[in-house]
Amino acid sequence: MSNEKRYRIACLTGAGISAESGIATFRGMNGMWENHSIEEVATPGGFARNPLLVWKFYEARRRQALTCQPNKGHIGLAKLQQVVGEENFCLTTQNVDGLHQKAGTKNVLELHGSLWRVRCVKCGQEREERGLFDELPPKCPCGGMLRPAIVWFGEMLPGEIFESAGRAATECDLYIVVGTSGVVEPAASLARVAADRGARVWEVNPDETPLTRMCERSWRKPAGEVMGEVAEEAVKRAAMKSEWRLI
Ligand code: APR
Repeated sequence: MSNEKRYRIACLTGAGISAESGIATFRGMNGMWENHSIEEVATPGGFARNPLLVWKFYEARRRQALTCQPNKGHIGLAKLQQVVGEENFCLTTQNVDGLHQKAGTKNVLELHGSLWRVRCVKCGQEREERGLFDELPPKCPCGGMLRPAIVWFGEMLPGEIFESAGRAATECDLYIVVGTSGVVEPAASLARVAADRGARVWEVNPDETPLTRMCERSWRKPAGEVMGEVAEEAVKRAAMKSEWRLI
């Protein structure tokens, strides 16, 4: 086995990468989702008070997401993983829409859960569920009520997934942040960890963010327009050993 050091690329994506697939970002919504407050539809308390309302909201998001396709941003990152190899590329996303997987990216770390998974509030079992439900709120075979396996406001991030995301940020040589406002943790802290450990940080976002100042390069364009170019640049970097880790 070769001892040669590998060039590692890690990536963090947010709602912006799915904007060109027709999924609205959060910042544009003024704290409201389809006339519901976030408190009503995206907190454990809201679910306890009105599970039917919460399920109607998520079923509508699932129905809409089923019609959406990955765009050139998702596809560019999937190709980048193919070129550099799964073992050298780790993608962490805050999105729950599953579009990275649909584009072909493997081993995606979903920090905020998935629209396509459900969990029983009684037995705790979690499973994949890609179809729409006939009856809401849906039931587990054990009789308990199912909930979306989404990390709601006020809930902990899944520990193992967050640890893996932290490890990827710590070990990478290049950290690419795409389509996130950088104002919600852990986006900011993951990019900071990468920068503090000597990785170059690149950003793809039409707007400046609090992460911009730690970036070596920024593309002020929609991800779908520039991801092909960003991926090519990343592959070039991987080929230039002198550009590896700063410390
Ligand atoms: N390409 C790249 N970036 C884009 C594009 C695009 N086509 N369109 C918009 N953006 C950028 C915006 O400029 C903004 O900085 O994407 C970012 C979207 O920000 P948010 O809507 O805040 O999404 P995100 O950062 O993913 O939110 C993080 O906050 O409420 C939550 O849990 C929710 O996962 C979400 C988290």
